[in-house]
Amino acid sequence: MKIRTRLVIAVLSLLVSSLLVIGTVTVTAARRGLTRLATQHLSFKAEEIRKYAWNQWDVLVTNGLSDLPLFRDAAREAVRSYAASVVRDEFQLVTAYDHEGRIVFSSSGSRTPFSEDLWSDLREREGIVTYDLNGVNRIGYLFRFDPMGWIVLTSVDRSEFYAEIDEITKGMIIATVITLALAALVLLLIAARLTAPIASLASGMRKIAESREFDARLAIDGSHELRDAALAFNAMSHELHHTYAQLRSIAVSEAAARTELGTREMEALLILGRLSEYNDHETGLHIIRVGLYSLLLAQLLGESPEQRRLLYQAAPLHDVGKIAVPESILLKPGPLAEHEREIMQQHTVVGHRILSDARSPSLKAGAEIALTHHERYDGFGYPRGLRGTDIPLFSRILSVADVFDALTSHRPYKEPWSFEHALELVAAERGKQFDPTVADLFLEHRDEVRDIFLNAELKGR
Ligand SMILES: [Fe+2]
Ligand SMILES: [Fe+2]
Repeated sequence: MKIRTRLVIAVLSLLVSSLLVIGTVTVTAARRGLTRLATQHLSFKAEEIRKYAWNQWDVLVTNGLSDLPLFRDAAREAVRSYAASVVRDEFQLVTAYDHEGRIVFSSSGSRTPFSEDLWSDLREREGIVTYDLNGVNRIGYLFRFDPMGWIVLTSVDRSEFYAEIDEITKGMIIATVITLALAALVLLLIAARLTAPIASLASGMRKIAESREFDARLAIDGSHELRDAALAFNAMSHELHHTYAQLRSIAVSEAAARTELGTREMEALLILGRLSEYNDHETGLHIIRVGLYSLLLAQLLGESPEQRRLLYQAAPLHDVGKIAVPESILLKPGPLAEHEREIMQQHTVVGHRILSDARSPSLKAGAEIALTHHERYDGFGYPRGLRGTDIPLFSRILSVADVFDALTSHRPYKEPWSFEHALELVAAERGKQFDPTVADLFLEHRDEVRDIFLNAELKGR
């Protein structure tokens, strides 16, 4: 919930509860005061009527006329007339009843008696009474006038009695509602003024954090606390900007150093590779082309960029073991004798031995390739006669690349094969010397292969 909404709810709740307490206390006090005044007024009127009735009775008794019906009727008429004269409006009533509840006289002229239930309740009481008559709640004062056997009730309609209080209550409710509406409006305006700088501060902070433009600054205005918050954020932002710039510079330097290191490493690997091919009278293009063919095949097989790079770096090392093979065997035109072939085949094991202690991933991969790049898919390769996917994938790839390039290269003891002729051999050896999947990819992408075949010198640089 927004601060603005919370503020309005909190203040309005306080205001409503205060107004309710004040209103209730005021109305209760006014109602109590008015009740006291009204009951005093009712009892005063009743007392006046009682005095008048006793005076009339005293006159009858003094003149010995109290037993004569004619004079008793005259006295009763005098009392009724007096009672009617004290009634000010249609809401007030003075009524006298006999002991059976029959009306002796009434200021309104009504002759309708009370119901039996109401009468049996009222006849036993004296003083202030409240009761319902014809659905109207009334308040009255009840006294007995025994000489005539009357029970006299002066009463008034209770709603009329409290009419002014009800008016006051109604007025107070209307005033309260108007006050609350105005208060809510004023509060909303004040809350909006108070919270606008907070919202602007938060939006500024968010913008800087999202854009990472830590050199941007928040505007310093608003109240004391908000100014402090903006200053603190700006200080933090300044620090972040500084740190971020440092980190960026370190990252750039590190990336440059990594690239440099990678280039140097690759250079060293290529030199090592060329060294191994030196006795073959190779120019160095063989290892570049083998690396590029292997890279293409690894990409076509869906290998990750890291694996592709590793294979490209390790590929030049495949014949590193040839350093231990005498030139007379390496360059011998024509078939090798049995013991010569054995020495020749040892270049795999020697290469592995040279590289196997290395910790660098590219040298480790080189060791594995050096050992297994003359294994055949059908299991008739050397040095261990591995078969199918027991041969590491890097070597299954390199085998195609190496053989294809050896065939298409000039050697002292042979002429280069044509591009198409060499491809035919790859197709013929599919599933025999070569992994069929790797061979198929090589054949399917002959355009890319030809591109390397023709332009390796440019690409390898
Ligand atoms: Fe080899
Ligand atoms: Fe080779």
